Amino acid sequence: MEKQAQKRLGMGIVGAGFVGPHHVDAVRRLGFVDIIAVAGSNEESGRRKAEQLGAKRGYGSYEALIDDPDVQVVHVATPNHLHYSVISTAIAKGKHVVSDKPLAANSGESRKLVEQANRANVVCGVTFNYRGNPLVQEARHAIANGAIGKPTFLHGYYLQDWLIKATDYSWRLDPEKGGASSALGDIGSHWCDLAQHITGLRITHVLGDVSTVIPQRKKPRVAREAFQAAGGAADLESVDIRVDDLASVLVRFDNGAKGVFSAGQVCAGHKNDLVLEVCGSKASMTWRQEQQNELWIGHRDKANEILQKDPSLISEEARGYARLPGGHQEAWADAFCNVMRAIYGFIAAGKRPEPAQPQLFASFEEGYRLNCIVEAILDSAKQGGMWKEVL
Ligand SMILES: NC(=O)c1ccc[n+]([C@@H]2O[C@H](COP(=O)([O-])OP(=O)(O)OC[C@H]3O[C@@H](n4cnc5c(N)ncnc54)[C@H](O)[C@@H]3O)[C@@H](O)[C@H]2O)c1
Repeated sequence: MEKQAQKRLGMGIVGAGFVGPHHVDAVRRLGFVDIIAVAGSNEESGRRKAEQLGAKRGYGSYEALIDDPDVQVVHVATPNHLHYSVISTAIAKGKHVVSDKPLAANSGESRKLVEQANRANVVCGVTFNYRGNPLVQEARHAIANGAIGKPTFLHGYYLQDWLIKATDYSWRLDPEKGGASSALGDIGSHWCDLAQHITGLRITHVLGDVSTVIPQRKKPRVAREAFQAAGGAADLESVDIRVDDLASVLVRFDNGAKGVFSAGQVCAGHKNDLVLEVCGSKASMTWRQEQQNELWIGHRDKANEILQKDPSLISEEARGYARLPGGHQEAWADAFCNVMRAIYGFIAAGKRPEPAQPQLFASFEEGYRLNCIVEAILDSAKQGGMWKEVL
């Protein structure tokens, strides 16, 4: 019997700066998704980006993209302050939503989106993309199966250096566009998501020490996309910075485990250095984003191990996330694609994920809680370093 053809889905993306094109690449790899449209900040940029990305149409507003009947799935990759209105409009028009993180600029907006999504019959996900790495999944399943015993201590950091100079600037440093935090909200949130996802634990309490290492910066008069180099001195204006570029946080988890992590965008030599170690009562596991094809396993009574990303060496549960044989390095974009595959799996099947069932992608509820974690850390720091419960 002939196999039934996979129903095709049409996607449109709002915002195509640094990360937007990776959404497009990832869904293209799925094989059943048509790249219908790109919306930019104006008509000209929408048309230009559509052409660059091979999309059929370019729009100058997200409303026009959402109204396109061929777009069934709306991807959101704009600066954070626009997430709420784009997502809310998309859900109201019955579109599925793939939002890049954070779900919204603050927990108030995120909570409203959770409520709206719960009432609508659409699939919604947030791309906390490190979850999609095969060795992250290996660690997750091993921890769930008791390989390290009871998790007792989680530690690590997420450090970058792309904002180390006073001439480095991003909308992330403008609270009107990025929200109340830069380092914590932008990358600390990834660390928290990964720590919770890999262990199945929840962060319940936080104590933060939050700082602005560079309190004044030179901002370009014309907007610059993420990781774009600075222009000449004449294009710059001085601005005071009111958000964090460095933070350290003590954490408590719901099983009694303790944790500590730092997030910083001003740490030379660290490009995209996310490290998470989970120490358990029997063994420890460390995953580093910059060497993401290796998982370190630490023991007390035998030699430590390094497990390579090799489908023939990793568990059945994690194997499906590795697309290449051992020795063929997989990376950031591959993990991103795994997350998209998981979200589109639900959309294609016409099913919504069970709220209680953890998925490879973050739910809106999880996105909301990550906003709450960041806000609790900021609150803690503002009060001089008090323990704060995450609601
Ligand atoms: N998952 C990840 O690892 C990851 C990585 C980077 C960024 N992000 C998230 O993705 C989002 C975008 O970040 P980025 O680094 O790509 O930023 P960016 O500045 O490089 O790109 C943002 C794009 O949005 C466009 N834009 C601005 N206003 C718009 C509007 N009204 N309509 C349509 N487009 C508009 C800008 O012109 C720009 O092209 C942010 O929310 C960020 O937190 C996630």
